[in-house]
Amino acid sequence: MKGVILAGGNATRLRPLTWVTNKHLLPIYNKPMIFYPLEAMSRAGISDVLVITGPNHSGSFINLLRSGKDFGLRLSYEIQEEAGGIAQAIGLAGEFADNEKILVILGDNIFNQSLKRDVEEFEKKEKGAVVYGKRMATKSKQYGVIEVKNSKVISIEEKPEKPKSDIGQTGIYMYDHRVFNLIRKLKPSTRGELEVTDLNNFYVKEGTMICKILTSWWVDAGTSFDELLRANVLVAKEISKEK
Ligand code: G1P
Repeated sequence: MKGVILAGGNATRLRPLTWVTNKHLLPIYNKPMIFYPLEAMSRAGISDVLVITGPNHSGSFINLLRSGKDFGLRLSYEIQEEAGGIAQAIGLAGEFADNEKILVILGDNIFNQSLKRDVEEFEKKEKGAVVYGKRMATKSKQYGVIEVKNSKVISIEEKPEKPKSDIGQTGIYMYDHRVFNLIRKLKPSTRGELEVTDLNNFYVKEGTMICKILTSWWVDAGTSFDELLRANVLVAKEISKEK
């Protein structure tokens, strides 16, 4: 399986921090944000990773991460010319994936759980996809919302007005090799983007989408200043525990 990290977008919610840099280069305690998903790939046992960034700061990513050797990874880079949505960005990884399955992690998702066993399990599957969910203290309108019945995914709705469950859709996904054909069939949403939720719903309709619940802490550090701060605090606490 190959890895894809999405690190593009304009991060308007974090301005003015992101006027002159990319969100994924901002610090989370003692490391740049992008280090965390890269380390997650390495923990998952994946060695070939594609980093997809926007055109403005792509040079900074190469300066920072270089070949990926320090992470035990082999890195490739791809440019997403316009912010056309998560699914559009995943579509750029077709050639890189070369018919293998992929693990996708959004570059602002910070968590400490190992995905290794799930990756190994998914490798053996003939087809399908995996979405990671996180149980929220209260039903949230901030994320995609996953409805699960008898361990089957019934629906995924993007930032709904009336969330049907307390399971938020994280930015961690696994797809079979058909994902690139499915992305070609997607139509832009009302905000003009190819949505990952629409992509995931292809698999939901087919009955091949599996939802795994993350039991570790998880933060989408790109959502707000508060979440960015929370990610910093959680990582700092973890490091002080190790001391
Ligand atoms: C994206 C997805 C959303 C998901 C979130 C997790 O939202 O569209 O379904 O819950 O990532 O990080 P974004 O943060 O791009 O608004």
